[in-house]
Amino acid sequence: MQLKIKKPAPVEKNVFWSPSRVSRAEREKRNKHRGCIIWLTGLSGSGKSTIARELERILFTQGHRVMVLDGDNVRQGINADLGFSQEDRAENIRRIGEVSKLFAENGMITISAFISPYTRDRDRVRGIVREGDFIEAYIKCSLEECERRDTKGLYEKAKAGIIKNFTGISDPYEPPGNPEIVVPTDKQTVAESVQTVIEYLERHNYLRCRQRNKHLTLKQ
Ligand SMILES: Nc1ncnc2c1ncn2[C@@H]1O[C@H](COP(=O)(O)OP(=O)(O)O)[C@@H](O)[C@H]1O
Ligand SMILES: [Mg+2]
Repeated sequence: MQLKIKKPAPVEKNVFWSPSRVSRAEREKRNKHRGCIIWLTGLSGSGKSTIARELERILFTQGHRVMVLDGDNVRQGINADLGFSQEDRAENIRRIGEVSKLFAENGMITISAFISPYTRDRDRVRGIVREGDFIEAYIKCSLEECERRDTKGLYEKAKAGIIKNFTGISDPYEPPGNPEIVVPTDKQTVAESVQTVIEYLERHNYLRCRQRNKHLTLKQ
């Protein structure tokens, strides 16, 4: 895929990095869990926001430092200047990757829910964070099921040509080749999908207290 990326401005010669006097290790010791980015990628309507919000609620209740960065919200604020061209999508993910990195470096479990359709953009985020910090969760749902759900009525508008560059209809989605987690939301309940993510986090020691997760209950 040929993609023109805006070159980042060269780092200004007179800009110096200001190091923190609180280390990541100190923060993680206090939080009793490590920082990381759970990157949810998938088609519109696949279930990213639903899973992100359930997961956030559960992890917060368990005492984790956790927050969500959600595509729709971010596009109303920090990225309100960006559209849906390949270049703007790349810049959207670049900025969110940097923001996610800041939070993870500061000990937060950061749940980033973005369609992020291009492999190259997602891999770039993986490339700027530490080994193990980027957990790619492919929120896998057939296009037919996403169209059937059409939670926001966007597929209808995209098919009618009212929305341009719509992922899955008039813009490509490149599924992850080797994601840490696959969440088949067209074959699971919401509770099962959230549990799929939590099991991965438990198994790889990202969470504060592994036992507590055995007793979680989810509202459906
Ligand atoms: N296993 C599942 N995981 C997540 N969402 C699901 C699942 N099964 C059905 N859904 C439904 O699919 C829709 C997903 O919408 P949403 O989370 O807004 O998607 P996205 O943020 O990916 O655009 C919701 O209405 C949700 O209730
Ligand atoms: Mg969403």
